[in-house]
Amino acid sequence: MKSAKQIQESFESYLRSLDYSRRPDDLYAPIRYVLSLGGKRIRPTFLIMAYNMFAEELDAVYSTAAGMEIFHNFTLLHDDLMDKADIRRGKATVHRKWNENTAILSGDGMLVLAYRYLLNTPGPGLKKILDIANETFTGIMEGQQYDMEFETRNDVTEQEYIEMIRLKTSVLLAACVQMGAVLGGASDKDAGLLYEFGEKIGLAFQLQDDMLDVYGDPAVFGKKIGGDILCNKKTYLYINAYRLADFHQKEELDRWARYEGNDPESKIAAVRSVYDAVGVKALSERLIESLFDEAMTKLDAVDLPESRKSILRGYAGGLLNRVL
Ligand code: IPE
Ligand code: IPE
Ligand code: MG
Ligand code: MG
Ligand code: MG
Repeated sequence: MKSAKQIQESFESYLRSLDYSRRPDDLYAPIRYVLSLGGKRIRPTFLIMAYNMFAEELDAVYSTAAGMEIFHNFTLLHDDLMDKADIRRGKATVHRKWNENTAILSGDGMLVLAYRYLLNTPGPGLKKILDIANETFTGIMEGQQYDMEFETRNDVTEQEYIEMIRLKTSVLLAACVQMGAVLGGASDKDAGLLYEFGEKIGLAFQLQDDMLDVYGDPAVFGKKIGGDILCNKKTYLYINAYRLADFHQKEELDRWARYEGNDPESKIAAVRSVYDAVGVKALSERLIESLFDEAMTKLDAVDLPESRKSILRGYAGGLLNRVL
């Protein structure tokens, strides 16, 4: 079995070897730009790792893994436009470096490119892979739509938030783990368990992303801090802060939600100070922890010796900064 590092390095060199330079250059340059800026490559790593739990010949799944990573990067181009984000992976976002229309069109280009690579999935698994991809990509759109709609609502429940992040984030991670398992020859039961594992890790991962959006170090996070607060995103932090806030704190949150002035830093600081006062960071950390434990329980139930599962355990733990 390959280590996480070996998988990531070999995937990265596969991705680098792909050529997507056609004309006009302003359509393809942003695609090369975004794909060359790295990122953690979590989705292809999950896919290849899950495959490797059941099978050895990894070359068979690089194209499928690339399709999923390219799809993910497509969602980022459009997401940054929707979220008015200027920085990703420590660099200017495509709509800032080029312009909004370029981000839309290059994003569309990446969606097509993603399918090109998914279609190279060898063997009898192709139809299954495309079915999973279609269901997954539809779910992500639905999640992104909820995410936007929630910006202008102030009665979003925790349950609605969890369903929204399940759709916008979890289903992609879960699908990658499931695809790897399916292509590696896992039973339906094991592939299902691994899907659920991915779903739980995905929820924890988005909760952590939302927390880093408020409390992260921009140099490590690669994105601007406070973007979710400025967009009035209904995160777990916000929903719970509002629930726990006293009358004055609620008024404060309501007032900043309506704010349209030109001092974003004051809004970020004010909302963060309510979060701190009511202690929602610890609440979020606790939920991340329990989701991680649920994910581990799913992995426990997969019918393989622990020696073939510990790699996925360790990698997921690392993503959530947990030492097992
Ligand atoms: C960003 O995903 C979008 C979320 C689901 C939070 P990643 O944090 O995996 O982004 P990269 O690919 O590593 O940049
Ligand atoms: C990520 O949500 C969901 C998708 C990109 C589909 P975010 O909007 O929180 O992701 P970041 O923080 O911009 O990476
Ligand atoms: Mg978003
Ligand atoms: Mg975003
Ligand atoms: Mg985020």
